[in-house]
Amino acid sequence: MRIANLADVPENGANRFVVNGKFVAVFRVGADLYAIDDKCTHGQASLSQGELDTDTHCVACPAHSAIFDLRSGEARTLPAFKPVATYRVWVEDDGVLIEV
Ligand code: FES
Repeated sequence: MRIANLADVPENGANRFVVNGKFVAVFRVGADLYAIDDKCTHGQASLSQGELDTDTHCVACPAHSAIFDLRSGEARTLPAFKPVATYRVWVEDDGVLIEV
């Protein structure tokens, strides 16, 4: 499903989109895209608002700084311990497509 134009996701940044009624965060690190649920598993915070580390491909939750690996959804640090859902995402004809 096409959810956005590639230009809607800033380079080395993120944006969030409504997909099937829920927020999904799409991150862009260089040429790579990652899509995860835009809700921390520790609370209600929006992970697309978190600090992106382009070296480790991780994002820090803006509320209590739990770190999630964008590649696997794994929670790398407390206070979160459950992973976030990840989705396959790719670019086609300058569009961002996602499999949910
Ligand atoms: S809401 Fe994300 S670490 Fe607490």
